[in-house]
Amino acid sequence: VEKHMEKRLKMFLDLFWLRPEKALIFTFRGKTFKENKILSPSLDISCGDGLFMFLQQGGTLDKKFDYFKSTNAKKFKHSSFIDIYNFDKAYDLKITKKAAVKIDYGIDWKQSLLDKAAKVGVYKNLMVHDNNDVPLPFEDNYFKTIYSNSAYWVKDVKSLTEDIYRMLKPGGTAILEVKTPYLLKTLDQMEKFLPGEAIAILNRKRRETMPGGLKYEEWKKIFKGCGFKLKEARSAYPDKIVMDIWNVGLRPISHLLIQMASELSPQKRKALKEEWVDIFFKLFKPILSVKQTYPLKRAPYLVFVLKK
Ligand SMILES: C[S@@+](CC[C@H](N)C(=O)[O-])C[C@H]1O[C@@H](n2cnc3c(N)ncnc32)[C@H](O)[C@@H]1O
Repeated sequence: VEKHMEKRLKMFLDLFWLRPEKALIFTFRGKTFKENKILSPSLDISCGDGLFMFLQQGGTLDKKFDYFKSTNAKKFKHSSFIDIYNFDKAYDLKITKKAAVKIDYGIDWKQSLLDKAAKVGVYKNLMVHDNNDVPLPFEDNYFKTIYSNSAYWVKDVKSLTEDIYRMLKPGGTAILEVKTPYLLKTLDQMEKFLPGEAIAILNRKRRETMPGGLKYEEWKKIFKGCGFKLKEARSAYPDKIVMDIWNVGLRPISHLLIQMASELSPQKRKALKEEWVDIFFKLFKPILSVKQTYPLKRAPYLVFVLKK
């Protein structure tokens, strides 16, 4: 397990080097794909830029590719918030190995992210769709696998779940990674020590843009209520240390780091990045083997494998 996880950590650090905390949580994601293969026809709801799925399915990127060269970081201020990755100029991507499995449909509500996803080529079809609009534009009993790690950023969780059930073939599998009220617990705890202004910097609008967290028992009730059989449920992350790192991380200064890096010559940027990635690899490697301490009822992110 360890070697495989170390490889993943290195892969995600190479990609998200200026956001190492993001690399750490991505390392823990998608473990479930080992036992639950994606079967066609398949759907990824809220696929975003598709890089997670591409790397997850064995794709590799050229060393020269740098994720942070295509952002709107210059326009970001904590006082005038924008999504710096919702950027029209898609990146100059070079793929060294294609993904082994292609997903039939990827949907997301941001066209700019889908433009990036089109370049990685892990989806056969891409469509703009807001998950608040149900039904989704697919037939009943159509998909063998529906995956999402961010489907539930919606107002009505139950309607979306009913719709996922509707679109799934009998015998099909839905793999849903969902959040709970404990995802931003680090911030709640820090509120004891930090004023609102400091919390806002750490929060970076996550409380507002990521609604819809439910507790384990509540998620279970919704899934069962819609007809799903529960095959597996587990915590996506092993211990609160992972969440504490993710909740603080380099996020507060990432727009500045991105701008600083853009001033470097390509050679300097490459050399600094290598040393940078090495440091975070040493820091995070021991965390890959921390024991599972989160019980389901307190886990910040849950992975549900559901059957119709
Ligand atoms: C944390 S990202 C994850 C993206 C991708 N699944 C991944 O693993 O990299 C969350 C995604 O959800 C999308 N999203 C948020 N709310 C949405 C909604 N109501 N309808 C469709 N997509 C939504 C965002 O545009 C973003 O791409």
